[in-house]
Amino acid sequence: MRIERELEGLRAATGAWRAAGRRIALVPTMGALHAGHLALVAEARRRADAVVTSIFVNPLQFLPGEDLDRYPRDEAGDLAKLREAGCDLAWLPTPAVMYPPGAATVIEPAGPAEGWEGAERPGHFRGVATVCTKLFMMTRADVAVFGEKDWQQLQVIRRVVADLHLPLEIVGLPTVRDTDGLALSSRNQRLAPEHRARAAALPRRLDALAAALAAGRPAGDALAEARAALAAEGFGVDYLALVVPETLAPWPGGQTGEARLIAAARLGDVRLLDNIPARVLA
Ligand code: PAJ
Repeated sequence: MRIERELEGLRAATGAWRAAGRRIALVPTMGALHAGHLALVAEARRRADAVVTSIFVNPLQFLPGEDLDRYPRDEAGDLAKLREAGCDLAWLPTPAVMYPPGAATVIEPAGPAEGWEGAERPGHFRGVATVCTKLFMMTRADVAVFGEKDWQQLQVIRRVVADLHLPLEIVGLPTVRDTDGLALSSRNQRLAPEHRARAAALPRRLDALAAALAAGRPAGDALAEARAALAAEGFGVDYLALVVPETLAPWPGGQTGEARLIAAARLGDVRLLDNIPARVLA
């Protein structure tokens, strides 16, 4: 596996692949890799001839006071996992490579970026959209693989790629979960043991909620009850909502169809994100 930290080295590798007619897949990550990330790398392998995985803890998507400094980092462990997963190139830019002095251009997504995480963390999706667009251009990938774990992020990226006519395909993969149902996340390492033991109540509540909606229970009542139950279980609920999957707009009352349940809830100072599909029977 090649390891590149400078743009020249990355361009030389991807340029040679392109010249040889090889299809390039990109898996953007912030490292502290787990089985969820590695599932994306495996999918990238299936969809392309050469796989680039980027590891970059992107300062632009963290708000002041967020966990940028405490974000878990394990470069040696990550590189070993990527080698094992059959990644061809690990792209490890420094902040100075990604944002050279004087950098002054950003991608400002609206639409699906506006509510939920966008409202809780103003500027977050500007950072995500900017770094992903840069990664797409730097690697000249034909396909990029993202997780449904960050459902809103995936919809924002699809919107940006469509709006800017970027010549790559975006693939979303289902969330990989721990044995108790908790969605794998690099931030789970920071959960206190008593919080980790309780965390799977979030996906359990989402599943119960989806079952209630599929059975025709009114969404407003079912959502309010689930929010109260999570609060009683010790979660600080930032939001729990039923939305239109692609736009993230609130699900129109009384409508039957395929919606998405999205949630953000805190245990201690760790914020958990989760989402699942929900068939609504109105
Ligand atoms: P990060 O949180 O490292 O996630 C990298 C990719 O892995 C994202 O596409 C995310 O949705 C996916 N992922 C995380 N946990 C997963 C799980 N349990 N199952 C399946 N996929 C999972 O998301 C980011 O980094 C950043 O915002 C990034 C896109 C790299 C831009 O900086």
